[in-house]
Amino acid sequence: MKHSFDITDNEFELLKGLIYNQTGICLDDCKKAFLASRLKKRLASLHLNSFKEYYNYLIGHPRGQKEMMQMISLITTGKTEFFREEEHFKFLTTNVFPYFLKRTIANQRRPELYIWSAGCSTGEEAYSLAMVTNDFFNVYPYWQIEILATDIDIEALNKAKAGIYTEKEISSLPLTYRKRYFHRIEPQKFKANDTLRRLITFKYLNLSTAPFYFGRRFDVIFCRNVIIYLHPEIKKKIIQGFYTTLADDGFLFLGHSESLLSLDRGLFSLVTPSIYQKASLGISSNARL
Ligand SMILES: C[S@@+](CC[C@H](N)C(=O)[O-])C[C@H]1O[C@@H](n2cnc3c(N)ncnc32)[C@H](O)[C@@H]1O
Repeated sequence: MKHSFDITDNEFELLKGLIYNQTGICLDDCKKAFLASRLKKRLASLHLNSFKEYYNYLIGHPRGQKEMMQMISLITTGKTEFFREEEHFKFLTTNVFPYFLKRTIANQRRPELYIWSAGCSTGEEAYSLAMVTNDFFNVYPYWQIEILATDIDIEALNKAKAGIYTEKEISSLPLTYRKRYFHRIEPQKFKANDTLRRLITFKYLNLSTAPFYFGRRFDVIFCRNVIIYLHPEIKKKIIQGFYTTLADDGFLFLGHSESLLSLDRGLFSLVTPSIYQKASLGISSNARL
């Protein structure tokens, strides 16, 4: 039997609601055709005849949860690249890292730096963070550095963990970094070396389940180009979760096109567009940096 796999308004509403409940992702009505086209291969491979049957499979079949993960992989936008929005990495090395060095010496704190790449996709952001961090702290070998990188998309995470990228994917990486931190494993494939891999832990985490429990606080959180896709109520919950899990003077980096605006803006001080510092110290950003 040949299927056209058209999606009805009712089927779209059911799947949209399910996706919202599972991920916080908010699909506009104009995403109906997008959803149908992304999921039609799943219907075919599961021998289902309609999106209603697919919905029932997701919520009722013993393999529904596994399928849910596959569906999430198909509908999330994983666009990323090495050193995307590169001013953020410059800001880290010229402002944030020197600030932490100074503050640690002045306050005799433990030389530790914990970074979280929240919504890391296929890992380019986390590896970029690892490269600039390793370069900067190389001369301070007693510093303990850890990077946690999380995402909801299991397939993206598997690629991130493997740390293998094509020539095209690695093209945005400056040559010096490529030489220092990657090695060729096939004519067109490069693998991140152990120095980077030791710094990063990749884990599944659904941000919409905020608040977060890590047993530690982070000095820097990168959550760039992620909350833009989420429902305002979920965004708010996540920002509050970041606030709780940031160190008292920790930094939050959002994507260039994102801002806190009405989302608990009062919790953070704006340091420079898209970069925030936790406001609990109540002093001006200039005084802190
Ligand atoms: C456009 S990518 C951004 C990747 C990277 N942060 C960057 O800016 O290059 C967005 C990522 O957010 C992830 N994401 C979307 N909703 C999420 C959620 N509820 N929890 C965790 N990750 C989520 C997607 O799977 C995707 O990998």
